[in-house]
This record gives sequence, structure tokens and C-alpha cells, in this order.
Amino acid sequence: MAVSLTSNGSVATNSRLRSFFIDSLKDIYYAEKHLVDALEDLRDDATTNDLKEAFNSHRSVTQGHVIRLEQVFASIGEEADTKKCEAIKGIISEADSIISDTESDTLTRDAALILAAQKAEHYEIATYGTLVQYARLLGEMEAASLLQQTLEEEKEADRTLTGIAESFINEQALQEVL
Ligand SMILES: [Fe+2]
Ligand SMILES: [Fe+2]
Repeated sequence: MAVSLTSNGSVATNSRLRSFFIDSLKDIYYAEKHLVDALEDLRDDATTNDLKEAFNSHRSVTQGHVIRLEQVFASIGEEADTKKCEAIKGIISEADSIISDTESDTLTRDAALILAAQKAEHYEIATYGTLVQYARLLGEMEAASLLQQTLEEEKEADRTLTGIAESFINEQALQEVL
């Protein structure tokens, strides 16, 4: 097994964890790029202005996540590249099914879209939370700080969605009949 520390204590560029870290960055880079388009669909198909605005604003933030990941790649001396992420593809295709399975202009549609979007946010939170830790372990402090900023924005998006759901959408959806 290759030793991952060099003689001066820094992490070797061929460490297995570093290689997995880079693969995981490619995975989330792919995910973020696809979420920019998915959030546009969610915005267009949401019923209420509150939810449309939340999706629209997180779409702009997500465009920033794409750029920030490019900065992360640059900070560790790697080319920005994507790797197909089956998980986010599945989450986005579930959101598409929700759109076709719920009636437009209903609050049930919005309640369901919030569930779909929160699955994406939790996927991102899990990923960025771990990537921050890996970056620190690998001594990539600039990358860690950039990833931490995105992590905070994903948590904020998740809280915003919970707030909208609990303030009125879920209760009003409960009044809707088939
Ligand atoms: Fe994101
Ligand atoms: Fe997000």
C-alpha cells in the first residue's frame, strides 16, 4: 500500500483519499450544473410566488456554486471536470415525475416540489459536509473554505424551503380534494 504522507508531512498527490476527493468534486460539479436547469423547471412549475422566488434565488446561488467549484479545482491544481452523478439524475427525474403526477396551480404541487427540492439539498449538504472535511485532511485549506461557503448556502436553502412549507403551503394543500 502506498504511503500517503511525504517526508515533510504534507499529503502526497497520489494519495487514495485525494483521488477520491477529486472524483467526488467532479460528481458534485456535474450535479450543480444539472441543478441549475432543474431549478428553472421547478420555478416554472411551482404554483405560488413564494416558492417560485425561492427556486429562482437558489438557482442564482447554484450558478455561483458551479463557479466556486471551478475555483476549488483551480486551488488544488486540477482541471475542472464532471463525472456523471447517477444520484442527482435520479433526484431530478423524481422531481420531473412529481410535476407530471400533480395538478398545476395546486398547493399540493408546491408541497411535493418542496419535498423533491429538499432531497437535492440534503444530497448536497451530505456531499459538501464530507468534502470540507476531506479538504482539511488533505491540507487544502482554500478549497475547504470555498466548500464551507457552499455548504452554508445549501443549509440556508433547505431552511428556506422548510419555512415556506410550514408557513402555509402544507396546511393549504391539506384542504385540496381530488
Ligand atoms: Fe449547490
Ligand atoms: Fe442547493
